[in-house]
Amino acid sequence: MVQPLVVGNWKMNGSAELAQSLVSATLAHLKEYTPSVRVAVCPPNVYLASVVAQAKPQAALLGVGAQDCHAKASGAFTGDVSVGMLLDVGVQYVIVGHCERRQYHHETDADVAEKAAAARAAGIMPIICVGETLDEQERSRTIEVVERQVLAAVPQGVQGEVVIAYEPVWAIGTGKVPTLQDIEMVHGAIIGCLKQERAIDADRVTVLYGGSVKAANAFEIAQVAGVGGMLVGGASLVAREFCDIVDAVSKAQA
Ligand code: PGA
Repeated sequence: MVQPLVVGNWKMNGSAELAQSLVSATLAHLKEYTPSVRVAVCPPNVYLASVVAQAKPQAALLGVGAQDCHAKASGAFTGDVSVGMLLDVGVQYVIVGHCERRQYHHETDADVAEKAAAARAAGIMPIICVGETLDEQERSRTIEVVERQVLAAVPQGVQGEVVIAYEPVWAIGTGKVPTLQDIEMVHGAIIGCLKQERAIDADRVTVLYGGSVKAANAFEIAQVAGVGGMLVGGASLVAREFCDIVDAVSKAQA
């Protein structure tokens, strides 16, 4: 069984100074004890190299991820960053298919699949985001949408661990969270469909929950069957909150 994973998605927030202080506070906290979870932060691209350098002496405690990548290795794609470049600066994870990319950059399931494949081929772990919109949820389409997104991004024959983040679009940044029963049902469906359609055993699948996670709700969510960690947005910009979430997930596994 792989360790749970807690990932901070800073989105387009912060500054060089905030990046430095968040990482130093997180490292100081993680050094106090050895949590039974993996922890990573995903700063904006411009801060990746400095965050990697800062985390390097404690690389076993704190991983670094990007928030997106391009599927192609290089070329005329102004503003984009390839997985080779991410690897070059020491990044271990990349978020792909976040709903803000799907919404504002019109990324399709096919785009997400290409990005995930490129990341895997480079040896970077893609964190594949899936989740239904409010409209889809109200029309009881959640499982159908999530399974479609998962299967599009996870091909047959994938080796090693698969990391999925279930993030209901309506729960992101809203303070709204699904019921624990609903989280259990969706995570179970993701694990079940990867087993059935891709022959991937549950012990190779890590399903993070994301959407309005904070210190106050992390422990109860982390205890839900099928929850393998958290993808944290807003609360990851406050060191105390983020560290408390890490502790809650660690405690829930104990
Ligand atoms: P939130 O964002 O924690 O601010 O809701 C989560 C995410 O978008 O990954």
